[in-house]
Amino acid sequence: MERDLDILADDTFRKIAMKTEEEEMLAGLMAAQKHLPCKFFYDETGSKLFEQITRLEEYYPSRTEKSILKRHAGELMRGAEGASLVEIASGDCSKISILLQVLPKSMVKTSTYVPVDVSLSALEESRCKLQERFGAIEVCGIVADFMQQIHLVSQHENRIFCFFGSTIGNLDRRDAVRFVAKLGKLIKTGERLLLGLDMVKDKAVLERAYNDEKGITARFNKNILNVANKILGTDFEPEYFRHHAFFDDEKQRIEMHLVAIRDMIVKSPFFERDLEIPKGQTIHTENSHKFTSHHIGEFASVSGLSVRAVYTDSNRWFTLADYIK
Ligand code: SAH
Ligand code: AVI
Repeated sequence: MERDLDILADDTFRKIAMKTEEEEMLAGLMAAQKHLPCKFFYDETGSKLFEQITRLEEYYPSRTEKSILKRHAGELMRGAEGASLVEIASGDCSKISILLQVLPKSMVKTSTYVPVDVSLSALEESRCKLQERFGAIEVCGIVADFMQQIHLVSQHENRIFCFFGSTIGNLDRRDAVRFVAKLGKLIKTGERLLLGLDMVKDKAVLERAYNDEKGITARFNKNILNVANKILGTDFEPEYFRHHAFFDDEKQRIEMHLVAIRDMIVKSPFFERDLEIPKGQTIHTENSHKFTSHHIGEFASVSGLSVRAVYTDSNRWFTLADYIK
């Protein structure tokens, strides 16, 4: 996991106040309900596993959002000449490619793509893929945690912010609202936000999406322990944990956990004493909140943005909300 490459001079202060990766992980492992921030899924292996997840039959969000983007790419890109496309948590850039594809070559030349992601490997790979496919496009990647450093995109103008994949659902409800409010302050008149939201639906469909038959999601979940081993020097053995994902009806979210299948003692040079994990204890690794139309309106009201259009699929499983200031 690599941190902030592009740091503006005035960011020094904020950086000091930020927790280090080690501190973030330690705090989660020392808590009564152990947890790890889900951004730590995405080292090189984790990013590749996520790409495999997006191709699984059970994992409907990626293909559904892509189908919405394909159907409405023309409308979405109308008037986007010379825009800076800022993609938050950009991953493999496959979604932005759908939008770039409808732009005439001359327009691609004047556009800038600004992907923001914690994963340097994902950014590097997407730069290669985009330049191979679209040649002239300027790619200006930022390795950063969007929660702490989204202001780094201030140097770009005439922006369309894209936050696809329902990655906003991986934030707690309150953090999601705060983050969209922060975006609202950053976004200038005439600029837009395209926000992908996975909607509340039948529990069986949701639980299937996070419990695929091939066990790719289980591998993705367990890989976070390999990342902990790299960052904290712990000696977690991922094979002694079981993947557990379920939908919480009240909180309207999928929760992912790792359940210890035997008692274990974990060591790290960062621990004051060894960490005892009894059989059955869980490490909470991810929340994936699902949305309703109420949230689309709530995001508009907290950010001061107006809803320009709302696109969905025939099942209404996924929504792409287009906001403008
Ligand atoms: N937007 C893509 C990828 C989603 S996967 C899609 O829709 O398919 C989530 C992506 O968010 C990963 O690439 C991961 O590295 C990135 N990510 C997760 N938490 C992040 C954070 N706090 N700051 C920046 N990037 C983050
Ligand atoms: C990136 N994020 C929106 C995915 C999700 O569905 O919450 C991550 C994921 N976790 C398990 N499968 C996919």
